[in-house]
Amino acid sequence: MSRQGHEIAVFGATGYAGQVLVRLLKAHPTLSPRAISARDPASWTPADRAAVGTASAVALALPAEASKTWAPVLREHTKAPVLDLSDAFRTSPGVPYGIFELWPEPIASAHLVANPGCYPTATLLALAPLLRRGLVAQDTIAVVGKSGASGAGKKVAEHLHFCELAGNSFPYNVGRHRHIREIEHHLGAPVCLVTELLPIVRGLSVTAFVRPTCDPAALHRALCEAYEAHPYVHVLDAPDARLGLRHVVGTHDARIAVGPVTASGLVPVFCSIDNLMRGAASAALVALNRLHGLDPHAGLAAPVPPGPALPGMKAAWT
Ligand SMILES: NC(=O)c1ccc[n+]([C@@H]2O[C@H](COP(=O)([O-])OP(=O)(O)OC[C@H]3O[C@@H](n4cnc5c(N)ncnc54)[C@H](OP(=O)(O)O)[C@@H]3O)[C@@H](O)[C@H]2O)c1
Repeated sequence: MSRQGHEIAVFGATGYAGQVLVRLLKAHPTLSPRAISARDPASWTPADRAAVGTASAVALALPAEASKTWAPVLREHTKAPVLDLSDAFRTSPGVPYGIFELWPEPIASAHLVANPGCYPTATLLALAPLLRRGLVAQDTIAVVGKSGASGAGKKVAEHLHFCELAGNSFPYNVGRHRHIREIEHHLGAPVCLVTELLPIVRGLSVTAFVRPTCDPAALHRALCEAYEAHPYVHVLDAPDARLGLRHVVGTHDARIAVGPVTASGLVPVFCSIDNLMRGAASAALVALNRLHGLDPHAGLAAPVPPGPALPGMKAAWT
């Protein structure tokens, strides 16, 4: 199949994630977006059908139920691969899961690729290298995740109302967040996940608490080794204000830190990302690049490495 057309059909281009993806594709050297407005496979227009038919890939920035409806229809209509930004297929057998740094196997022949969720992206970047090396106990993992309100999309809900959220922060969907299953599936271990809303538009951080099974200094070493070849994941030498969301919002960068060890025996592991970029649209761009055989990071702004530890802050592991 030829993927030389380089036009990407984007469903959900008016949504928060879709808007950012369209902007990234407009600035891309070889890919370009084509917004598809169809909502119902029973009544999509000839123009949308034709655009999907000639696109080199299709991106679904839709609610999961809409993705479940469209994916099989598209499979009938085009041989081009479908990249789904929802959680409809993230734990489906045989569907590649698009965190490039953790699952770098080629995806170019895939018909369907699942873009990871925002909390799962931050949690897995922070913890997967530690679990894979057996450096932390599998049965004692707690994660507190905090997100800006754009993580919920543009739909209207009372708890997202300005008067509820401004100057406020509160937990939501505790014990039943839809990302728990996705995280546990790809981490291979159970997690206690608590999610909280922040009174900001975008940016997401997780703080995971783990129990080392080794010298705790090995955790920092393992994360450095896991990401030394990956320029958009920065492992800090200490958890400090460099984890601040303002450093990652608008970028594909992820900032990670670990430690210190406390008398409790638990060690915190931190990760900060932009939910709409690394947590959705820029991760989607990386997957689209890989589907087209391009440099995975084509079209992304250069990474911004953090500087050294702030004055007065002691590096945790050196
Ligand atoms: N927001 C994030 O931080 C984030 C992060 C990771 C993953 N995601 C996932 O990405 C997907 C999109 O999220 P979002 O935040 O961009 O949502 P959103 O702001 O609510 O946008 C949803 C988009 O889907 C369109 N749409 C809704 N129902 C449709 C249907 N039945 N058929 C066709 N189009 C339909 C909407 O069109 P209208 O404008 O016409 O309503 C809109 O363009 C979701 O699955 C979400 O879980 C989001």
